[in-house]
Amino acid sequence: MLIKLLLLLLLPSVVLCLDAFNDDVLGLIVFKAGLRDPESKLVSWNESDDSPCKWDGVKCDLITNRVTELTLDGFSLSGQISRGLLRLQQLQKISLANNNLSGSVNPEFAHLWSLHSIDLSGNNLSGSIPTSCLNNSVNLSSNRISGKLPEKIWSLNGLESLDLSDNMLEGHIPPGFGEMYSLKVISLGRNAFSGLLPEDIGSCPQLQSVNFGQNSFSGVIPESLQKLNKCTSVSLNGNLLSGEVPNWFGHMQSLESLDLSANRFFGRIPFTLGNMRSLKELNLSSNGIQGGLPQSLMNCDNLLAVDVSLNRLKGKMPNWIFELGLQKLSLSGNKFKGSIEFPPTNAPSYQSLQILDLSSNQLSGVIDLSYNTLNGSIPSEIGGALALRELRLEGNRLTGHIPPQIKNCLSLTALVLSENNLTGPIPPTIAKLTNLEIADFSHNNFSGNLPKELTDLSHLAVFNISNNNLEGELPSGGFFDTIPVTSVYGNPSLCGSVVNESCPSSPS
Ligand SMILES: *[C@@H]1O[C@H](CO)[C@@H](O)[C@H](O)[C@H]1NC(C)=O
Ligand SMILES: *[C@@H]1O[C@H](CO)[C@@H](O)[C@H](O)[C@H]1NC(C)=O
Ligand SMILES: *[C@@H]1O[C@H](CO)[C@@H](O)[C@H](O)[C@H]1NC(C)=O
Ligand SMILES: *[C@@H]1O[C@H](CO)[C@@H](O)[C@H](O)[C@H]1NC(C)=O
Ligand SMILES: *[C@@H]1O[C@H](CO)[C@@H](O)[C@H](O)[C@H]1NC(C)=O
Ligand SMILES: *[C@@H]1O[C@H](CO)[C@@H](O)[C@H](O)[C@H]1NC(C)=O
Ligand SMILES: *[C@@H]1O[C@H](CO)[C@@H](O)[C@H](O)[C@H]1NC(C)=O
Ligand SMILES: *[C@@H]1O[C@H](CO)[C@@H](O)[C@H](O)[C@H]1NC(C)=O
Ligand SMILES: *[C@@H]1O[C@H](CO)[C@@H](O)[C@H](O)[C@H]1NC(C)=O
Ligand SMILES: *[C@@H]1O[C@H](CO)[C@@H](O)[C@H](O)[C@H]1NC(C)=O
Ligand SMILES: *[C@@H]1O[C@H](CO)[C@@H](O)[C@H](O)[C@H]1NC(C)=O
Repeated sequence: MLIKLLLLLLLPSVVLCLDAFNDDVLGLIVFKAGLRDPESKLVSWNESDDSPCKWDGVKCDLITNRVTELTLDGFSLSGQISRGLLRLQQLQKISLANNNLSGSVNPEFAHLWSLHSIDLSGNNLSGSIPTSCLNNSVNLSSNRISGKLPEKIWSLNGLESLDLSDNMLEGHIPPGFGEMYSLKVISLGRNAFSGLLPEDIGSCPQLQSVNFGQNSFSGVIPESLQKLNKCTSVSLNGNLLSGEVPNWFGHMQSLESLDLSANRFFGRIPFTLGNMRSLKELNLSSNGIQGGLPQSLMNCDNLLAVDVSLNRLKGKMPNWIFELGLQKLSLSGNKFKGSIEFPPTNAPSYQSLQILDLSSNQLSGVIDLSYNTLNGSIPSEIGGALALRELRLEGNRLTGHIPPQIKNCLSLTALVLSENNLTGPIPPTIAKLTNLEIADFSHNNFSGNLPKELTDLSHLAVFNISNNNLEGELPSGGFFDTIPVTSVYGNPSLCGSVVNESCPSSPS
């Protein structure tokens, strides 16, 4: 076998003619010899075997017994992809994703005529894009591939899926993109591409997913995009694109996800977006968009996430949006005014809400999300709600600490956090909320001492800390001289006259 191997390594074209050998075994053994396999994932690859068909990661055609698929995802392999693989003349699918392979992609892969799916994503491959092996489905995402796209890249119009995202590619998109009749998925995201988006993109009738995000593309969104009536996802985020958000997005009835965030779009949000009946996610964050949020969005029955944060939107707080049953809503960093009015507490319409960010607006009023299933912690962004009068979050599954930023909510009169799983201390900065009338922290797991400063709260009518893990002496003075015992019980280590527990070391 060793001799055969040497032959193969030294004289590959000769070996091709010696059909007594199983090319596939030899090819794979040579491939293995070029790799480091620290977790011994390829231990079943025994060069004495007649056939590789039972080796881990190898699949053969049942009739010809030739290798058709090689799947070694996440095998912790490092080293280079050797020429050995060129022996696998019936190989259709190769997936070496999420290893630590280095070196460049061998353009001779093109000689494997059956090969139609290549996934080398998540490695450490460098060099430039090998045009000739781009057929059908190619995934080279998350490597260190650099340079420009080859001028002829679009001449291989059998390509259905091309993912080159998260590499170090640069330059313009070469002309001829519109010839990609079969293309369904294109992702060039997270590279350093520049120039205009392809004008003829609308000529690729099969396109379902378009990702040009996180590059330096400039100019406007090509009008032909609206012709992509099978398209479900468009991501153009994080570029230098400008112009108004086009009205015609309303024609894109299949679109489920539209991400135009972090660009230079201006003008108003077109009311035609309300025609996008499939839309689930809309992200227009971080642009220069003005005007209001069009109420036509109420027609988008499938919407789950809306992010219009960091724009120049204004007008009355669009309370209608809570009726959409969103999971994520961010209106932060705009100039919305007025009060927040949620539908009745038990309405199903916002039971699904996971993320709500209304910070940095000019809002006032009440946030009442009590008795939902909110989990996670209270976001520090709450500190942006300067005009908030009531924050009611009782009866959820909140964890973590009270964010110190709460001290900025100077308009708060009611802070109701009972029946959650909050921990940590009652922060002394609560004492800065001088308008506070109702503070209910009961049924959590707050611990530590109660800050003396709390006695400064002169409007306090309810201060309920029952059923926590607080300790030490109750503050004395002001409201605390007459605090009802039901407001403090259930804290085994609390002391003071109210709980009939003298404090050991305190000068009382
Ligand atoms: C490879 O196969 C031969 C013959 O079946 C066997 O003697 C040998 O132990 C195997 N090697 C490994 C590493 O399993
Ligand atoms: C990845 O490969 C490089 C060189 O090939 C090596 O230096 C490095 O230790 C490898 N990393 C892991 C996690 O195997
Ligand atoms: C390419 O591979 C990455 C990581 O392995 C994966 O997340 C991505 O979905 C793949 N792209 C396509 C178009 O399948
Ligand atoms: C990728 O390869 C370079 C050398 O080519 C090496 O310095 C780097 O550590 C590798 N990255 C990983 C994640 O192994
Ligand atoms: C591309 O793949 C198709 C089948 O999927 C095949 O017919 C065609 O020959 C391939 N083209 C190249 C250049 O490899
Ligand atoms: C919207 O896009 C911004 C910036 O690209 C990102 O930070 C944010 O997480 C996105 N919002 C949602 C809801 O995905
Ligand atoms: C909140 O709950 C959901 C669903 O139960 C879960 O997937 C998510 O990880 C939770 N988030 C946190 C921060 O605990
Ligand atoms: C609080 O956490 C404890 C244990 O981590 C859990 O048993 C309990 O159900 C939680 N309570 C609430 C209201 O989520
Ligand atoms: C409350 O927190 C303490 C630690 O501070 C922990 O030991 C205890 O299990 C927690 N109780 C509940 C019910 O989560
Ligand atoms: C404090 O909260 C507990 C538990 O939620 C409740 O039983 C008690 O009546 C409350 N005390 C006052 C004075 O509101
Ligand atoms: C404390 O003592 C007073 C009088 O002795 C009694 O009325 C009150 O119920 C006691 N409170 C507690 C919490 O035991």
